[in-house]
Amino acid sequence: MTNLPLMPWPETIELTGETTRLGRLQFEGATERRLGAALERVNDDLSASGSTLAVGITYGETGAYPKLGDDESYDLRINPDGIQVDAETLWGVLHALTTVRQLRDAQDLLPCGRIRDRPRFPWRGLMLDVARHFLSVDALKQTVELMAFYKLNVLHLHLSDDQGFRFPSTRFPKLAAAEAYTETELRELVELAADRGIRIVPELDMPGHVTSWLTAYPEWGSEPTSATNRFGVHKAALNPTDDAVYLAIDTLLGEVCEVFPDECIHLGGDEVHPAWWTGNESVQSFMATRQLATPSALQAYFNARVFALATARGRRLLGWDEVLNDSAPAGMIVQSWRGATARDRALVMGHDCVVSSGYYLDLFYPNDVHYAYDPAAPDAELLRLEDGLLDDPRFAHVADGLRWTHAWRASASKTTGDGKVLGGEACLWSELVDGPILNVRLWSRLPMLAERFWSPACVNDVDDAYARLAASYRRLAEVQLLSLETESAALLERFGVRHEQLAVVRLLEPIKWYGRLLGEAALAARIDGREMPLSRPYQVDTPLNRPVDALLPESFAARDFVAALQRSDTGLKEACLELLTVIEAGGFADDLQAPVDRLGQALTVVLGVLDGSLETEAARRTLQDASLPQGEYVVAIVPGLLDWLGHR
Ligand code: ACM
Repeated sequence: MTNLPLMPWPETIELTGETTRLGRLQFEGATERRLGAALERVNDDLSASGSTLAVGITYGETGAYPKLGDDESYDLRINPDGIQVDAETLWGVLHALTTVRQLRDAQDLLPCGRIRDRPRFPWRGLMLDVARHFLSVDALKQTVELMAFYKLNVLHLHLSDDQGFRFPSTRFPKLAAAEAYTETELRELVELAADRGIRIVPELDMPGHVTSWLTAYPEWGSEPTSATNRFGVHKAALNPTDDAVYLAIDTLLGEVCEVFPDECIHLGGDEVHPAWWTGNESVQSFMATRQLATPSALQAYFNARVFALATARGRRLLGWDEVLNDSAPAGMIVQSWRGATARDRALVMGHDCVVSSGYYLDLFYPNDVHYAYDPAAPDAELLRLEDGLLDDPRFAHVADGLRWTHAWRASASKTTGDGKVLGGEACLWSELVDGPILNVRLWSRLPMLAERFWSPACVNDVDDAYARLAASYRRLAEVQLLSLETESAALLERFGVRHEQLAVVRLLEPIKWYGRLLGEAALAARIDGREMPLSRPYQVDTPLNRPVDALLPESFAARDFVAALQRSDTGLKEACLELLTVIEAGGFADDLQAPVDRLGQALTVVLGVLDGSLETEAARRTLQDASLPQGEYVVAIVPGLLDWLGHR
């Protein structure tokens, strides 16, 4: 393609070869507030020059809030003497202006030409779990700004879970945790997002994941429970046999509808532990009377009642793919997360689907893995990708866990039904994320996912995407939205890495999949299908203040290092020696010493191979040894080094 820092890549782009200088955009016409603010955002980016550039803008009627399915297309013409934007709605104009923000270079020059563009999918989402760790409204506002920069259009807030309830219910004031949003904050967020064409979809997760509800209102459950700091699946579940529970849910839905104008509300529905339902006599007799044979049938009954309440309020419900287990009400949108096949089960049953399997950002996967998953690819292709991870050396240390998820494939279906793939949603579960490290976790991968959800399916050259990602990061820093590497480095230093050690530590990555969250014992238990043990390395109050928390999940420095090696760049030997000098000086934070030692071994191998003193087989054995995880770290250059060695 080109070296333009565009991400997502547009549907069509024609360049004339000329450039024009971007000055303050001058729009002659009635400017509604939202458009004026968007023009200001472009103008605020400019370096201080007094020049101006004329802009013509046309668009049709646009509602106060973005809606699922709104036309977001735009036609952008950049001429030497001005810019013309034509769109069906304001949202298309906003996207066009974002394209201008992305395109201008550091000297404010813009390439001339025409870009005609539209999103492939109407749902391009991000789910943030604000329950496990609270995220301030300021963090959410910054997230919205960045989402707009990458043309994402749905922020799904997972507002409640076992460990916390973050929605400020007036009628049930005991629900909200000490750290919760105020109504004013949420309203401000909704407005800020709407001004950028972004919908906010709230989720109250039920009937499982409700320990926080039931410590406040024990009468909504069939058993007693107490507050928890632990992660994992808890037994607490709402009592689906009690009319008072539906009354409370209806009241909560009413309050949620007051704050969030979007048509869609998410009812969660994931990971409902059956124990409270199967072990309670009155629940059992209720099930017998209604011929509900299984907990899953009881959950379907619950879903249908909540669905009716939401419908009566004019809202459309979404649920995680467990809502399909028995039956889900027609019209319910299903969010697939348990492997690729859940999507097609939803489609066959006639449900529209938002695809999240393949897009879990909490698993510390590199960009290329997420980028390869196309929300609408045939399931055989997605299964091929899932299986591919088992043979990918970067995932060797968690392959047993990855294989375990195959259990969910049992009910795979090959036919497609009437449901539509609405798009994709990246998910960031926050067991291992809090405010300070949010950006590092999120923006290290989300831009390339935003492209997957927006651009035509044929935009799939991953090397090109990485190059544009790097360019896009430079642009993000220039427009002062985010400086990812700087933020990661500052955090690493705060968490005990000395400045001169940064270049070394940046070549490490956190271990993959649920390795960190579960720890070794719980990981083994989960794979064996045993009840998850109580002891996990992390709980809500475990500080996230070690280098592993601040590292980018994908080391771009490692990628660059291996690329330089493959190109046989000069200066590599000196680079290795410099890194080895820092490693030999020692003084690393405790949990870093072992992985840094392995990195030292790997660099020594590189030197040995380059100067011909080390046999390939011996080199390979040492690298294989260095590929084993050390605590919560892996040496990120090792898989690339093995590949390099194999091609020599
Ligand atoms: C989920 O990841 N429990 C939806």
